[in-house]
Amino acid sequence: MDRLSSTHLKTEILAADPGGIAAAAAVLRRGGLVAFPTETVYGLGADATDGKAVAGIYAAKGRPSFNPLIAHCPDADSAAAFGVFDRTSRALAERFWPGPLTLVVPCVPGSPVSDLVTAGLDSIGLRVPDHPVARALLVALGRPVAAPSANRSGRISPTAAAHVMEDLDGRIDAVVDGGDTKVGVESTIVSCLGDRPVLLRPGGVPRAAIEAVLGQALADPPGADAGDAPLAPGMLASHYAPAAKVRLDAGQVAPGEAALLFGPTPPAGIEEAAAVLNLSPAGDLVEAAANLFGMLRRLDATRAPTIAVAPIPHDDLGEAIRDRLARAAAPRP
Ligand code: TXA
Ligand code: MG
Repeated sequence: MDRLSSTHLKTEILAADPGGIAAAAAVLRRGGLVAFPTETVYGLGADATDGKAVAGIYAAKGRPSFNPLIAHCPDADSAAAFGVFDRTSRALAERFWPGPLTLVVPCVPGSPVSDLVTAGLDSIGLRVPDHPVARALLVALGRPVAAPSANRSGRISPTAAAHVMEDLDGRIDAVVDGGDTKVGVESTIVSCLGDRPVLLRPGGVPRAAIEAVLGQALADPPGADAGDAPLAPGMLASHYAPAAKVRLDAGQVAPGEAALLFGPTPPAGIEEAAAVLNLSPAGDLVEAAANLFGMLRRLDATRAPTIAVAPIPHDDLGEAIRDRLARAAAPRP
């Protein structure tokens, strides 16, 4: 089935109740695609042991290349069937699972997970989501679920079922509507392959919380500069792209711009903004992360040419928020 060109599927909206979850599991079992809520963003799920189903994810998203995908499991014990855990990865799993952390660990040899999930690597990204609907779906299926964010490639990640439908209606079999997601940015990804764990992507678990468990600093991926200032070009691929231009660390707002604020103090020029939303008037980074993608979508819908984004602190979830905003602002291909 060529999902790249097909828009003929009828995408069913399933309730987040036992009947809906059973229906979603049945779709996955027969090789279909189901979007489902996690605590971070909605995932576009396929049975990770079914290569044809996993290929359908790439087609539905219009993803040009085969990046490795995260395999989602209902608990750490089931994750251990697919990945080899050492002292470090086990400590992180014990502390942060279920939760917004993905661990990249060596594959268990002969694992039934499709090569398309690992992109042919001998490592695998594993995550145990902290969401009752995701967990119930994983238990009902009894197999790992490969799931990137449920958006068209390069678009803003979905934090509500309606966002999934905006991007993927007619291209996937179903979406389970579990309401708004709580964390709002994707999982933190830590690679536990070498001597020192590497932070591959900042996300829902702050760097400092992970380093506190490790008792050492996370390494940066090869090619990435320290901090989030000039990221290596490959790391700053345009992503989360609204139609509007995105202007970061805006100390003032120009007439006609849409404004995305943070904290209690409005920037200069706010009176002439085309639209204004505040990620967190109280300056709470957890609230800001939860609002980030939804507010970007809403400001983009105003068709303002530019979204001016107020400075966001670097600490805690600020690192993940700044990372996503930097990608939203990156030059488009
Ligand atoms: O919060 C999340 O992580 C969401 C929800 C749905 O769980 N998922 C998500 O998946 O963000 P995705 O496909 O957007 O991000 C997966 C990333 C890839 O970009 C890849 O870089 C990394 O995980 N990854 C997965 N397996 C890997 C591996 N074996 N080695 C290195 N990186 C890996
Ligand atoms: Mg994504």
